[in-house]
Amino acid sequence: MFAPTLFKNRTILITGGGTGLGLAMGKALAQYGAHLILVSRNAEHLEHAAAALRTSKAEVVTLPCDIRDHTQVATMLDTAFATCGTIDGLINNAAGNIAAPTESLSPNAFLSVVGTVLHGSYFCTQQLGRRWIAAGARGTVLSIVTTYAWSGSAFVVPSACAKAGVLAMTRSLAVEWGRHGIRLNAIAPGPFPTAGAWQRLMPPGLEQAMVARNPLGRVGRPEELAHLALFLLSDAADYINGECITIDGGEWLAGAGQFNALSRLTREEWEALRAQAAGNNYGQ
Ligand code: HXC
Ligand code: NAP
Repeated sequence: MFAPTLFKNRTILITGGGTGLGLAMGKALAQYGAHLILVSRNAEHLEHAAAALRTSKAEVVTLPCDIRDHTQVATMLDTAFATCGTIDGLINNAAGNIAAPTESLSPNAFLSVVGTVLHGSYFCTQQLGRRWIAAGARGTVLSIVTTYAWSGSAFVVPSACAKAGVLAMTRSLAVEWGRHGIRLNAIAPGPFPTAGAWQRLMPPGLEQAMVARNPLGRVGRPEELAHLALFLLSDAADYINGECITIDGGEWLAGAGQFNALSRLTREEWEALRAQAAGNNYGQ
């Protein structure tokens, strides 16, 4: 789909890059020549992912870090620059999420999710941006949010609050840092089955319900999201700044449109509705 050298000599840091969608983006970036820095808490699965990526000849550095802690983020970035010399792009992909009735959540449950998604994305972005600005270097930030960042969603309130914040950060800094040659964009995915999300969040039957209400009648494929990420991080998207691209098969719009339920009408029912409209006499 892209030129094989699209990311040659580019180094991209992916938080949560050892699993799920982060790893899928890492694989696609490696395929197009990128060097990768994978960051998350669990050194074991980071190493496992790096070993798989290195078989495709990619240069991969793994840096264990809990992004909720800004001191760990600072140390991680110092090590990343010392090891790789440069970082060209950041993907804020790491996340925590809890599906539960909000009244049942402890303060720490809220802090744990918001700490990873909002604070963690901010710490990585702010501390890397500060280094880019000081060095006069250009850079690109891509944050993985979700469609309920703007619609909200029952039962995932900490995540919804935090993702809305990440979207606000993206749009704010796109304007503030554009003059430094730093672009920030976001992707809002619909349902993409990953072990991390599905094992934590999906009770039996919910995936089928998501598929049933999706206009395209299916969930997403990780490589579809990865290709969008590659485009937004690449120079081909150099004039796209402060945008959020939804990749959900039309899911969130299907839930929003007042007349969307009419998609179940038969031909006879459409004709009956037309006849009903023709007979309109404004109630007189
Ligand atoms: C209520 C819960 C809970 C649950 C944890 N807690 N799970 N409360 N219901 N199901 C509470 C704990 O009791 C604790 O509070 C606090 O949350 C922190 O939990 P810990 O397990 O101690 O923390 P930690 O090990 O840091 O784990 C953080 C986590 C966990 C967010 C809870 O799920 C995690 O590590 N997630 C990372 C990966 C992830 O979530 N991936 C999914 C992303 S998908 P107390 O008060 O007891 O200390 C996504 C979009 C999906 O974001 C959209 C799908 C369509
Ligand atoms: P995932 O595999 O569970 O990914 C989450 C990653 O975040 C893990 O690699 C985890 O690794 C890392 N992480 C969690 N807490 C961290 C912390 N405090 N510090 C550093 N790293 C941390 O889930 P996924 O489905 O691929 O999700 C990827 C992104 O897509 C997330 O932003 C998610 O919100 C978004 N998204 C997913 C879907 C979907 O349907 N899958 C839909 C909408 C949005 P460690 O455990 O090693 O830390």
